Amino acid sequence: MTFRKILTPHIAEDDCHTLNFYQSNGGYSQAKISLKEQQPDDLIELVKAANLRGRGGAGFPTGVKWSFVPKSSDKPKYLVVNADESEPGTFKDRVIMEKNPHLLLEGILICCKAVNIQTAYIYIRGEFVFAAQRLQQAIDEAYDAGILGNDCLGSGLSVDVTVHRGAGAYICGEETGMLTSLEGDRGQPKLKPPFPAIEGVFGCPTVVNNVETLANLPYILEIGAEAYCAIGPEKSPGPKLFCVSGHVENPGTFELPMGIPLRTLIDEHAGGVWKGRKLKAVIPGGSSAHVLTAEECDVAMDIESLTAAGTMLGSAGVIVMDDSTCMVDALVNLMRFYHHESCGQCTPCREGTGWLEKIVHRIAHGDGRMEDLELVLDVCDRMVGKTICALADAAAFPAQSFVTKFQDDFVAAIQNGGSPAWKKRHPSAVGGAATHG
Ligand SMILES: Cc1cc2nc3c(=O)[nH]c(=O)nc-3n(C[C@H](O)[C@H](O)[C@H](O)COP(=O)(O)O)c2cc1C
Ligand code: SF4
Repeated sequence: MTFRKILTPHIAEDDCHTLNFYQSNGGYSQAKISLKEQQPDDLIELVKAANLRGRGGAGFPTGVKWSFVPKSSDKPKYLVVNADESEPGTFKDRVIMEKNPHLLLEGILICCKAVNIQTAYIYIRGEFVFAAQRLQQAIDEAYDAGILGNDCLGSGLSVDVTVHRGAGAYICGEETGMLTSLEGDRGQPKLKPPFPAIEGVFGCPTVVNNVETLANLPYILEIGAEAYCAIGPEKSPGPKLFCVSGHVENPGTFELPMGIPLRTLIDEHAGGVWKGRKLKAVIPGGSSAHVLTAEECDVAMDIESLTAAGTMLGSAGVIVMDDSTCMVDALVNLMRFYHHESCGQCTPCREGTGWLEKIVHRIAHGDGRMEDLELVLDVCDRMVGKTICALADAAAFPAQSFVTKFQDDFVAAIQNGGSPAWKKRHPSAVGGAATHG
């Protein structure tokens, strides 16, 4: 089957975000069929059979997640769309919300029918002002046209959708942190279980799905599970948005089949490594993923292949680094981010992210010692798997892989009085001259 773009097909058109444009290209026809004619259980089975895997980072099977929501509960059920998109290197959900917001709304309607939900919230990161405006415009259009609200699309069902803007915290992308924030409290993650499907927002069963996950639903209904599974690898198929940033000639968001070779993505779609330089490293799945060396880049961009390569597809944020990159400086940057974004509830994360930033910072700034390399790995061991949410792991994975795979850069910075960039900025400094907190 030839691949055609489903999530971002007409994004060059000026009016691609409008209801008129969406409907004139067949939009809402699948929601109409599912709301009027299909049974919730059949929809869940269809999504299970299509092997749709969550696009938010963990790759959990979407249909399986929906089936956890108790049917017998007399509490209201909610859908909360994760539009926080704060993982460094990730800019795919924003494209859908700005350019194709009705596709997300159609996916929301299908999910609501499958799980018997009448209220959906879209939790969008605060910085996405334009995307939030575009979403609100689309929601207003959909209410006016009888697509949302009471008697959606003449089906007798009602679905209300509300946009909720966050306040710019990475941790509010973690699902339980997001739900707590939506309730009006500080966005701090909670221990699971209970999982949101059983006890989520306002203590009620809640489906949490990523924007891109939901945007896949109309297409699954259109072509069926078997044809969907034929797009890319069977265990994690479908169209996929890959975000390529860093040292490439043509950075951007590319819609391609799941499983595209990483080198094809970089060389053919993103224009190759810039300025004629050589590839040094790639983070394939957002900054929380283990980094790959150039030699490890012959890998397919799908969940199983990247897991087998010791990293992850994550949010599909592909960050490319050329051979001029100092991995010590790059890691300081990442560690500063995770330290800043830790919510501080768990000691291994609150203290560990602080220590990682401090140690890598001193290596970069001329105060490093050889024992620091072991110390970084030791701190990481005390973080991974020992906290309420996965932010601690997300900080430890790049630290572990940068230090192990690019040890030469770290040793050079320790032996030569700091990273090349730091020494350039401080030519008269000798190792030990740097001050830092
Ligand atoms: C620290 C952290 C940040 C996260 N940020 C996001 C995010 O910005 N967007 C997102 O969809 N999922 C994010 N997730 C994953 C969510 O917790 C959740 O798994 C996801 O929204 C589920 O949707 P899906 O099954 O459709 O992928 C994050 C997880 C962690 C641990
Ligand atoms: S792991 Fe970090 S971010 Fe997650 S709950 Fe614990 S302290 Fe907060």
